[in-house]
Amino acid sequence: MNVKDLFINYFVSKGHIQIPSAPIVPENDPSVLFNTAGMQPLIPYLLGNPHPSGERLCDYQKCVRLTDLEEVGDKTHHTFFEMLGNWSLGSYFKKESIEYSFEFLTKVLNLPIEKLAITVFKGSDQIPKDTESASIWMDLGIKENHIAYLGEEDNFWAAGETGPCGPDTEIFFWRDEEKVPENFDPEDNRWVEIWNNVFMEFNRTLEGKVEPLPKKNVDTGMGYERITAVIEGVTDNYTSSIWKNIIEKIEEISNLPYQGNEKSMRIIADHIRTSVFISADDSGITPSNTDQGYILRRLIRRAIRHAKKLNIDISSSWDIEIAKIIIEKYKNYYPELETKKEIILKVLEEEKIKFNRTLEKGLKEFEKVVSKTDKMDGATAFHLYDTYGFPIELTIELANERNVSVDELGFQEKMKEHQEKSRTAAVGKFKGGLAGDGIIETKYHTATHLLNAALKQVLGADTHQRGSNINESRMRFDFNCDHKLTEEEKKKTEDLVNHWISLDLPVTIESMSKEEALKKGAEAMFIEKYPDTVNVYSIGNVSKEICGGPHVKSTKELGTFQIQKEESSASGIRRIKAILKD
Ligand code: ALA
Repeated sequence: MNVKDLFINYFVSKGHIQIPSAPIVPENDPSVLFNTAGMQPLIPYLLGNPHPSGERLCDYQKCVRLTDLEEVGDKTHHTFFEMLGNWSLGSYFKKESIEYSFEFLTKVLNLPIEKLAITVFKGSDQIPKDTESASIWMDLGIKENHIAYLGEEDNFWAAGETGPCGPDTEIFFWRDEEKVPENFDPEDNRWVEIWNNVFMEFNRTLEGKVEPLPKKNVDTGMGYERITAVIEGVTDNYTSSIWKNIIEKIEEISNLPYQGNEKSMRIIADHIRTSVFISADDSGITPSNTDQGYILRRLIRRAIRHAKKLNIDISSSWDIEIAKIIIEKYKNYYPELETKKEIILKVLEEEKIKFNRTLEKGLKEFEKVVSKTDKMDGATAFHLYDTYGFPIELTIELANERNVSVDELGFQEKMKEHQEKSRTAAVGKFKGGLAGDGIIETKYHTATHLLNAALKQVLGADTHQRGSNINESRMRFDFNCDHKLTEEEKKKTEDLVNHWISLDLPVTIESMSKEEALKKGAEAMFIEKYPDTVNVYSIGNVSKEICGGPHVKSTKELGTFQIQKEESSASGIRRIKAILKD
């Protein structure tokens, strides 16, 4: 049995209810692109709302972390991973939580106790030193010199600037041939962190104050990839049973051994796996130039580039073959991989065809430039992006390999200029380039603001956006509302948006401080996430919102707005799907 099943069985035997993995793209939290931890979908319950499955929960959660995207290629980094977690929503606290973790590691996984070491919170101005956790560990047999007290940076965990948080205790495992050291040195990276138990008893407010939560909760997280590598005794995660047949497939396709080609093979394996999971997600993400769609595009294109490095025939079905192995491997745990199989394969195939069309020429162009200079200017990087579809990160990676620097700021400036132009440009002007689909998305961005304003008029001023997602063919908008919209409400909303479109209202942008924007009544969703200076977009005098843009210049460009569906998204949250027609 693998660790995932052992983990769930263990916690179920301790009275926990297994909850399903939430979608990778958070349903109602536009402040993050992807779920990065098991606790993310549980935030409302950690804050005090009762969970329908009770007070003891466990799961394995699909997570995507992008902070380490560039690191993928080494032995331990992944963009997608599964997090095993157990939660107590006010049911138990430090003692049971630590005892469960200890028992699972030493009795179920049979890890030797002397190879474990622990960190606990050393305290801060606001929160005392966690001697309680340390003595629980010692009662279980962990030696005092295998326990280290660390500060907020290491042993205080929060998902974001605000929200549930608390001190944590982290469990480390000695992963080396050498004898286990007498004293635990957390700086020695042969000690690998395997599990984190967070004692979430606080809520951090907008002002940065830490207040007690109504209940003392436990949130734990253990990376499945890491723990599997540990129990299988490998130091290269990609040689564990999780990756074995995926890497073997890449060896077979490329006709090359893993040894000597590790970096490209790891990148291909990781990026295709993440792309499979993102494409299968309920959110319907497809490759694009914004948000999650852009990440998906970057991942697929980087995988293609590395396949080319391994001399794989990139127009063959190499990616499809790898994806099929991944689907097969995971479908019992994530049935959506099977039901969305055709969509996944289509996403990969279409993006591959798009990129392959320009990759060869783009690489030639790249070579031409770097043979002449070791400093690539922003205009050239933008040319590679706009004409050959090279995500800037890919250009930088290619350039790094050749010791060439890239003027990234210059690239961003060119990009901004281009967006300004595309705002006023007629559809089709940039056709063929990457910006082609950006124009449609730009229209949907503006329509989102109009819909937000219309819902406030129809349903009441305290109606706010709770999430949104745009792709080339539709917009999706989540908002708080306690009832299913009536036909009349829907019609009123739709009519209002179309009325504003017909007035050809100008869309204007102003830059101002966050405080001023709020004072002027600008709509903002997650104000704490915005920088100090923000852009405020106004549409005539019907809408004012803090937003990064881009937007169309005036509302007539939007055509006709049509609501296609209105449904429940989560408790107290409704979802509208709508389209724009020419
Ligand atoms: N939420 C904690 C983490 O991600 C468990 O480490």
